[in-house]
Amino acid sequence: MTPVTDPRTLTSSIDLPRHVGIIMDGNGRWASARSLPRFEGHRRGVDAVRRAVRAAGDLGIGYLSLYAFSSENWSRPPQEVDDLMGLLKRFIRIDLADLHKRNVRVRIIGSRIDLANDLNDLLNEAEVITQDNTGLTLVIAFNYGARQEIVDAVRKIALQVASGEIDPRVIDKHLIAQNLYTADIPDPDLIIRTSGEQRLSNFMMWQAAYAELVFLPLQWPEFDAAAFDEALRQYGQRERRFGGLANVPNK
Ligand code: FPP
Repeated sequence: MTPVTDPRTLTSSIDLPRHVGIIMDGNGRWASARSLPRFEGHRRGVDAVRRAVRAAGDLGIGYLSLYAFSSENWSRPPQEVDDLMGLLKRFIRIDLADLHKRNVRVRIIGSRIDLANDLNDLLNEAEVITQDNTGLTLVIAFNYGARQEIVDAVRKIALQVASGEIDPRVIDKHLIAQNLYTADIPDPDLIIRTSGEQRLSNFMMWQAAYAELVFLPLQWPEFDAAAFDEALRQYGQRERRFGGLANVPNK
C-alpha cells in the first residue's frame, strides 16, 4: 500500500490537518532499552525531528508544532538540561540554511527569560531569516508551558484594563487567544504523542480544546514517515463535531 505521506497520493484520500502538534516523548526509554546514555536518545530524537519536518513539508501541512523543552524540564539533572539546549542550538546552526531553502518559516514559542543570550540570539536569527517563507511553519515550543502562557496572557490583559485601554466587558475567548504566544497560529487539529503516555503535559492546553489526540506506542527516536501516516490515518477516521451534532448541516 502506498503510504499516505507520499504527497502524490495523499490529498485526495485524507482530510489533512492544518496544524499538527507533536509531544515528542520516550527518548530516555529508547536509550535505556539499548543500554545507551539518555543523551543518545535525545540525539536520535533530533533525527526524528528532521524526518517529521520533512514529511510535514512534503505533505503540505501548514503548521507543525514540536514540544522540545517544557518549563518543567528545568528540573532534570543540569547535564541533561545542557544537552537539550546544546542539541537545539546545533539543530538550528546545522539545519537553518536547509529549512530556509525548503521555504520553512520557523517560530519559537515559550518564555525567553531564562535562556542564555547565545541561545536567544540564535532563536531570534532563525525567526528573522525565515519570516517571509510561505511553506510549512515549524513552531518549536521551547521553555514552553501552557499554564505560564495563560498567566502571561492574563497579565497582559490585566495591564490593558488597569491602564484604561480596554473595558473588562470586552474580554472574551478571542481576546485571550490573541494574547497567547500562538496569537497568529491556528489551533492544532491533531496532537500526536509518542511513547504510549496519554496526556497533554502542559502542551497547548487552551489551543487543544478541539484537537484530535493520537497516542502512538513507539518512542520518539523511532518516529518516521510510517508513524506519521498512522497518526494521519487515525485522524482521518475521527468525526470532528466541535460540540455540534454529527452530519447535520448548519442552518
Ligand atoms: C522526551 O523524552 C523528550 C524531550 C524532553 C526532549 C525532546 C527534544 C528533542 C527531540 C531534541 C531537541 C529538539 C529539537 C526541536 C531540535 P524523555 O527524555 O522525557 O523520555 P523518557 O520519558 O523516556 O525519559
